[in-house]
Amino acid sequence: MANQDKINELIEKRAKARLGGGEKRIESQHAKGKLTARERIDILLDDDSFEEFDMFVTHRTKSFGLDKKVYLSDGVVTGHGTIDGRIVYVFAQDFTVFGGSLSETYALKICKVMDMAMKIGVPVIGLNDSGGARIQEGVRSLAGYAEIFQRNIMASGVIPQISSILGPCAGGAVYSPALTDFTIMTDQTSYMFVTGPKVVKTVTGEDVTTEQLGGANIHSTKSGVSHFLAESDEENLLLIRKLMSYLPSNNLEEPPVISTSDPIDRLDDVLNEMMPDNPNEPYDILDVITTITDNGEFTEVHRNYARNICVGFARFNGRPVGIVANQPKFFAGVLDTEASRKAARFVRFCDSFNIPIVTLVDVPGFLPGTGQEYGGIILHGAKLLFAYGEATVPKITITLRKSYGGAHDVMSCKQLRGDLNYAWPTAEIAVMGAKGAVEVLEGSAIRKIDDAEEKQDYIVKKEDEYNAKFANPYVAAKYGFIDDVIEPRNTRFRIIRGLELLANKKEVNPPKKHSNIPL
Ligand code: HXC
Repeated sequence: MANQDKINELIEKRAKARLGGGEKRIESQHAKGKLTARERIDILLDDDSFEEFDMFVTHRTKSFGLDKKVYLSDGVVTGHGTIDGRIVYVFAQDFTVFGGSLSETYALKICKVMDMAMKIGVPVIGLNDSGGARIQEGVRSLAGYAEIFQRNIMASGVIPQISSILGPCAGGAVYSPALTDFTIMTDQTSYMFVTGPKVVKTVTGEDVTTEQLGGANIHSTKSGVSHFLAESDEENLLLIRKLMSYLPSNNLEEPPVISTSDPIDRLDDVLNEMMPDNPNEPYDILDVITTITDNGEFTEVHRNYARNICVGFARFNGRPVGIVANQPKFFAGVLDTEASRKAARFVRFCDSFNIPIVTLVDVPGFLPGTGQEYGGIILHGAKLLFAYGEATVPKITITLRKSYGGAHDVMSCKQLRGDLNYAWPTAEIAVMGAKGAVEVLEGSAIRKIDDAEEKQDYIVKKEDEYNAKFANPYVAAKYGFIDDVIEPRNTRFRIIRGLELLANKKEVNPPKKHSNIPL
């Protein structure tokens, strides 16, 4: 073969590999409103930055007639490229080849990029669209999954791992995305479940559709499995790019700082007026967040799940932070099992990757009742407490209004190594609200009053006395539990100055194999 023929052969092979399962299957993928693996990579990465690995890998199975069905790349496209100039490794499952199902060699391809990403210290992004284990390969496919899981576990907290779900993701295959840091699902075209509707019907008799069982909507609202819900494949992939802009490439790097034209010392007068006079009136914490952050930007994580707490990424003077904020607009911002779990996971992510945490507190307490107790609020609340107490990144806490009881302690209080704890003058820091306190402290006195009007007057008087004493930030400030009481309009400036102050903070936990967070 002449040299040119050899080169032509290479070009032909590459062109063949790029066609995956062929034109017809690509058309059928498009007809479902889905992009192909390579089209997705093109959107995800900077132009012309993708370098593919293992294009010539094929499966090794001869049974079931597979010796006659061989596709270059074997159903997964792998390699590296850049996002905003920073290197990432990527694997994209190709549904046009055996339904994107995972073979032994396919798993090895994914493991190779994961190993490289760990060696170099860069993120791994997985684009999932697969019928699961390749049935013809049996246990070799299961072993391949386990190889990937083990790598997901070792990479956790070392390099960011992001999973997009852009089609089916079923059976044990769901566990790789679940082991990663963030999962993004596309509405209507993606689903995740451990057992599909047919098996559910057989085992439990329950009739349920794919969408009801594990659609993007369900996992973004009810289970919390998905951190983001995208309307299309394109939106899904662009979200990864956005998310990456807040993250360092690995746990030894600082998150990327970008320059901003948003002044650091602008005064947000609107915040001085924002708090309702009635302490029980709700307001939208997002209004506070988008007033103080650079250019009003906030990338909310888990937007539709456990909405009584908000978590997400923003920047102050170009520095990425994780924000955790009670949301008075939903259930008065109370902490319940789901909100605690959601926030705990986020705090731990930020701590793993050196992202400072800004906590905005307006919490009436933990949600009471059998539903919560049976659901393990003790353990879930402890997770959040543990996460904050364990975190060594800079922690700035601003108490806006209520900070009651156990929830006060949990929400990054001073004694959980809060670095800077500020409060607005509207803050109320106490064991509980006036109503509950008066019921407990004055119960026997109240019961002795027969006249209803007199009884009510007494309760109001005692509640007023309690509020005058405790519904303010100054008792906590007197003991140094609050470092300063600040004007609301100065919040942005005080956070920025605090982050600068804490930029070189060093705090280490005692050496141990790992902690035993209450799971
Ligand atoms: C081999 C598979 C496959 C699989 C799909 N295909 N899934 N081949 N192993 N797991 C093939 C189909 O035979 C078909 O090939 C092509 O991919 C497209 O599949 P269709 O069924 O035509 O597509 P669609 O109608 O869109 O349905 C997609 C699907 C369905 C819902 C994913 O294919 C399906 O139910 N697949 C099986 C899913 C499954 O049970 N997987 C195992 C889960 S258990 P042809 O040549 O006919 O076009 C598991 C364990 C992991 O994954 C454990 C890890 C610990």
